[in-house]
Amino acid sequence: MSASSSAIESVLVENRVFPPPPAFAQAARISGMPAYQALCAEAEADYEGFWARLAREHLDWNKPFSQTLDRSNAPFFQWFADGELNASANCLDRHMGTPVEHKTAIVFEADDGTVTRLSYRELLERVGRFANALKAQGVQKGDRVLIYMPMTVEGVVAMQACARIGATHSVVFGGFSAKAVQERIIDAGAVVVITANYQLRGGKELPLKAIVDDALASGECPSVRRVLVYERTATACAMTPGRDISFDEALAGQSTECAPVAVGAEHPLFILYTSGSTGKPKGVQHSTGGYLLWAKLSMEWTFDLRADDIFWCTADIGWITGHTYVAYGPLAAGATQIVYEGVPTYPDAGRFWQMIERHRCTIFYTAPTAIRSLIKAAEADAAVHPGRSDLSSLRLLGSVGEPINPEAWMWYHRHVGGERCPIVDTFWQTETGGHVITPLPGATPLVPGSCTLPLPGITAAIVDEMGNDIADGTGGILVIKKPWPSMIRNIWNDPERFKKSYFPEELKGYYLAGDGAVRSSDRSYFRITGRIDDVLNVSGHRMGTMEIESALVAKTDLVAEAAVVGRPDDVTGEAICAFVVLKRGRPTGEEAKQLAKELRDWVAREIGPIAKPKEIRFGDNLPKTRSGKIMRRLLRALAKGEAITQDTSTLENPAILEQLAEKN
Ligand code: PRX
Repeated sequence: MSASSSAIESVLVENRVFPPPPAFAQAARISGMPAYQALCAEAEADYEGFWARLAREHLDWNKPFSQTLDRSNAPFFQWFADGELNASANCLDRHMGTPVEHKTAIVFEADDGTVTRLSYRELLERVGRFANALKAQGVQKGDRVLIYMPMTVEGVVAMQACARIGATHSVVFGGFSAKAVQERIIDAGAVVVITANYQLRGGKELPLKAIVDDALASGECPSVRRVLVYERTATACAMTPGRDISFDEALAGQSTECAPVAVGAEHPLFILYTSGSTGKPKGVQHSTGGYLLWAKLSMEWTFDLRADDIFWCTADIGWITGHTYVAYGPLAAGATQIVYEGVPTYPDAGRFWQMIERHRCTIFYTAPTAIRSLIKAAEADAAVHPGRSDLSSLRLLGSVGEPINPEAWMWYHRHVGGERCPIVDTFWQTETGGHVITPLPGATPLVPGSCTLPLPGITAAIVDEMGNDIADGTGGILVIKKPWPSMIRNIWNDPERFKKSYFPEELKGYYLAGDGAVRSSDRSYFRITGRIDDVLNVSGHRMGTMEIESALVAKTDLVAEAAVVGRPDDVTGEAICAFVVLKRGRPTGEEAKQLAKELRDWVAREIGPIAKPKEIRFGDNLPKTRSGKIMRRLLRALAKGEAITQDTSTLENPAILEQLAEKN
């Protein structure tokens, strides 16, 4: 790295901490550590009373709940179960008649830079109209609707409209393949698909509807009755008569008023598919009441949200971060937020910084992978350095999705935050619904690279394989001991997998996060050390190694066997490395290069471009024990380029290691 790296090193050696700036702390909602500790103490003294109080204060209930937590069918915990509410009403209707009604809800910046603004009143009308259109297409409470949309206002409107009529949405990120879309449609039993003709990213038109057509072409998705198509661009796309209908047509003549349908607090607001340690993605099912409480609460606790903030979370609605901190949290909290259609590097890598200046953004929330790639770009070209933009509006920064290395933290702090903005390094997962371990910016002294302490009421701990507590300073398994309102409720269609994945018997009924962690000896701060299962984190996106292996071996004409591991990568955090045995024997030279490309393209078609292996190495075999088990720890060492120092005496074919150490 640059000259600043020696300064960064010394910072690490000094183990500096960054206390909240006094003015920030003074004005904050949770001001100082005693205020944080008081909330923790309240939760400890009366756990259910604590959550009941917050649920009553933060949400509008059509029917109040009488029981806070029902543990009778653990681990299928229920929160506020006999209460009724509507998520969309809590995000929109509740602001009508308040100063928020005419406040800007969304500042939308399109890929080409066009800016549009929508007030809360206008957004409510858009959502109402869309909800009526869904009803006219026969969508009812409890139906599942698959959303495969670009990062646009229409995407948020579609999600809110589903919530308004009690339909359960399942958003699929626009980078997933037809096969991935098809699997999710089938698993969720979706009756309607909402998509767009194209999406615009980095000045390019990329097809979405054509991918949906592919997904439906097999005839394996009989549940789908309608495909609603948003015409994002003027380019026509194929429309199947009787099945497909354009937004214009579907919305024509629909009233902007649609009464929200009150649903039980446990009604599934959405299903979001994420990778696990088997080949099949898991449909993480979230509730309405507990989830929404978290979305609102964490906007106020973690982001210290104020009425005049301009909030920007850069995540796509296809991920959990875009659900909680774009589609629900900011709206429930009455914030003005920026929604951006495109990529951070278009037309150049200064786009984020220019947008912060243009919209006077005050809270900026992004992923370490974006920060790292923008550091690289700024070091290569001063014209895109954040110092070229006026970032004085910022008061708070956030990070999410993967560990942020201290070097990137320091750069973010110095060059984006002007050394004045706290950074909240928020640890959470698709399954947790919202932040669980994170600093509170007006209270928690920050340590670069640490997500610090659990939110009040979150009983995070580090345990050994039997669920026993581990002392600070020693690494172990991250668990959350008590249920909390926004936790995953089930894996759609697979309650057994839910129990096994998240509440294994030996862990005393604790929630198993799937990450390793260590607490510091001095402050008991948490530091996440990475996944302990076969899940990789590539650019903040979760990828199952088994999922990629299944995709590779599905190329039956070519592939005999495949093993996928991760290796550290400066920009993407982890990179995917695949070891492949071909049926035709081990290729070399040009042929190997060409076949590696073919396989990478194949994976992109099977799962999506984000799952493409960065590197593919071919071998005559894989390193296996005599009982036939692939030794992944050896493959991980090979992928990193390390010399094998581990014991290889149990290997059946030690000679293979030398071959696999060679790059193509
Ligand atoms: O490994 C942890 C990592 O991302 C995983 C969850 O991924 P996903 O469900 O896609 O949700 C990402 C957005 C919340 C976790 O198991 N992770 C997430 N945030 C952090 C993190 N690792 C370290 N520090 C974080 N702040």
